[in-house]
Amino acid sequence: MTSTGSAGTTAGVAEDGLDVSRVRRDFPFLRARINDHPVVYLDSAATAQRPRAVVEAESDFALLEYANVHRGVHTLSQRATARYDQARERVRRFVGAAAASEVVFTAGTTAAINLVARSHARPLLRPGDEILLTEMEHHSNIVPWQIVAQEAGAVIRVIPVTDAGELDLDQAAHLIGSRTRVVAVAHVSNVLGTVNPIPVIAELAHSVGAVLLVDGAQAVPHRRVDVQALGCDFYAASAHKMYGPNGIGFLWGRRELLEAMPPWQGGGGMIEVVSFDQTTFAPPPARFEAGTPPITQAIGLAAAVEYLEALGWEAIERHEATLLAEATRRLAEIPGVRLIGNSADRVGVVSFVVDGIHPHDVGTVLDLGGVAVRASHHCAQPLMRRFGVTGTVRASFGVYNTLEELDALVAGLHEARRVFGG
Ligand code: ALA
Repeated sequence: MTSTGSAGTTAGVAEDGLDVSRVRRDFPFLRARINDHPVVYLDSAATAQRPRAVVEAESDFALLEYANVHRGVHTLSQRATARYDQARERVRRFVGAAAASEVVFTAGTTAAINLVARSHARPLLRPGDEILLTEMEHHSNIVPWQIVAQEAGAVIRVIPVTDAGELDLDQAAHLIGSRTRVVAVAHVSNVLGTVNPIPVIAELAHSVGAVLLVDGAQAVPHRRVDVQALGCDFYAASAHKMYGPNGIGFLWGRRELLEAMPPWQGGGGMIEVVSFDQTTFAPPPARFEAGTPPITQAIGLAAAVEYLEALGWEAIERHEATLLAEATRRLAEIPGVRLIGNSADRVGVVSFVVDGIHPHDVGTVLDLGGVAVRASHHCAQPLMRRFGVTGTVRASFGVYNTLEELDALVAGLHEARRVFGG
């Protein structure tokens, strides 16, 4: 692989198929200097940087074409409505959904999961019913289920994670049963990068008549998603993890499930007829999009989809696999560094601890060298407990990262060991 170095100076298409120097030119952010060093951004799993094409799609619309959707007869409103509808269609194709009406725009993954918990699960749940989660879930795929489970007297069950950072599917088969109503699983772990075998879990869930919700927040920037091939019933994701704007995400749901769900928020845009005696509701997706939606962000999300697809999934995957393999190899060579998880199927995320040094201190030293990583419990406290740590340092890779940037990560870790004696 040819990579560009921090300054992004090497030209030419990389052996892995991704022209990283060209990609880097799309992200003006990467010219930043942090603490007098070129920025090395290894925190894309928290939020990915946005390419110029995404920001320009949003700003062109905001500066030249802006209007509200659905409510206007004037030309600008009709154009805005068409752009909003096109964005939904773009997302439909992106996830391989059967119909655009199965795509609901939400504020993000968290809102999408809360919508399903509140509107699909809550009305169905009876005392003693079960919701099956996994030990590697982000808090956003735990807490909404706990809230509705407590209200309904339902029980949360948890699929354990193996030492390799994979789901224990034998245990999953024992934990699922006739009382299971919902199974909710991350497609990709935000801490370990593990890619979970969703089709296998879908089969398990459906064998007992449960529905499967997949938290796709960490999958959509890394892998082509086809909700029909995955066999799930709901799929939630956020634009800001996939080089798009923050403040928008989407929920894909099977049409018959969405149609059976009551609204979760009331307001304009989600109704058919309103009177003080009775209100009737619009069909999905409008039923779940009360109020003025994030129009500009939807246009940015569509641009992010186009950007990713133009790069090509094969090239993205190969590039990230190269970075992951090299990062894993080099980190394992550093004394005192312990990698957490080594699943066979992973995206470009690596979590580790350094003996005797708090992850925050490691993160601070790395930051002094311009390297941005996340050092925390990553909103996955049960997983931290599983591995006996309070937190980890996480380096996560995007399409713009280079092998040379790993030099800065490794140098920063040696520096942390020198400073703190780890
Ligand atoms: N969920 C985001 C992360 O894993 C914030 O960093």
